[in-house]
Amino acid sequence: MKRIIIDTDPGIDDAFAILLALAAKEKLEVLALTTVNGNAGVDQVTKNACKICDIADENELPIFKGCSRPLCRERENSAVFHGDDGLGNIGIPDTVVKVGCEHAVDYLVRKAREEKGEITLTAIGPLTNIAAAIKKDAEFAGNVKELVIMGGAEFKGNMSPHAEFNFWVDPEAAKIVFAAGFGKITMIGLDATAYIYLDPVLRELLYAINTPVSRFMHKISRVYMDGHWKIEKKLGCELCDVLTIAYLLDESVVEKVDAFVDVETKGLCEGASVVYRKKYYPQKEKNCEVAVKADVKHFYDIFFKYLFPEYLATAAQLLTNYYDSK
Ligand code: RIB
Ligand code: CA
Repeated sequence: MKRIIIDTDPGIDDAFAILLALAAKEKLEVLALTTVNGNAGVDQVTKNACKICDIADENELPIFKGCSRPLCRERENSAVFHGDDGLGNIGIPDTVVKVGCEHAVDYLVRKAREEKGEITLTAIGPLTNIAAAIKKDAEFAGNVKELVIMGGAEFKGNMSPHAEFNFWVDPEAAKIVFAAGFGKITMIGLDATAYIYLDPVLRELLYAINTPVSRFMHKISRVYMDGHWKIEKKLGCELCDVLTIAYLLDESVVEKVDAFVDVETKGLCEGASVVYRKKYYPQKEKNCEVAVKADVKHFYDIFFKYLFPEYLATAAQLLTNYYDSK
């Protein structure tokens, strides 16, 4: 059983990721959600976190609001992919916002200290909260069992040819995180998430499954699908954050390499993660394992196994038809 805290900026793929994590109770104990400015402002993503928990009937899950802006810059949110409200603009009514009175950074520092070596911290938004916790408590990195990050890339970018959104929003935070001395960091970047698209066939299966969670996923992903078509002329949407949770459930869903990673914070390539594979740069000290590939059929086996197990075989057949026909 992994005991995890999810640091998140929901966000449509964040929502899919949180719902998968909450469904995988036999493997994951979700201790709390901590929210951070990213896909939408921190007040909005915190409301969204409450809505997601309400859909999952998990209204007792602790939620703590975090940083409202990057460490030392201002950045716009990503409405084109996630909608102005961060959840696809489908007008979900506000639920009772049951948010802890403790700031997310204080919660992270306290919980990591109280449960030293026990917590797998899963960061699927900009790393502002994580960096703030490192600055607040010099022992924070050492108190965390493992840090798993959705972010960065070895050879890709989505905010520039070289910068991925979570690192682009707060490059200074990302740089601090990789230099902080965590015992184990796993970076699930765009090189791996590029394999994981929700294609139209599977999105329609979510509609046909017709449960509150599946229909919620179908509805919120419309804007996300439209954004991918508008920007990339691709049918489907990239489930970046969801691969990170799937990795927690079965690490063999990705292929990893040992590396030294640092992050550029200024100029043309600000937000870029520079990945020195140990194989090619043995003089560099490893600080991270980087996911370089992902297995899409294995991913959906995990996704449907925990969320919609009675449709596992149907999804596998649809995937075989779709991918074998390519
Ligand atoms: O680049 C992908 C990341 O940016 C994901 O976390 C997604 O939610 C967006 O925030
Ligand atoms: Ca996210």
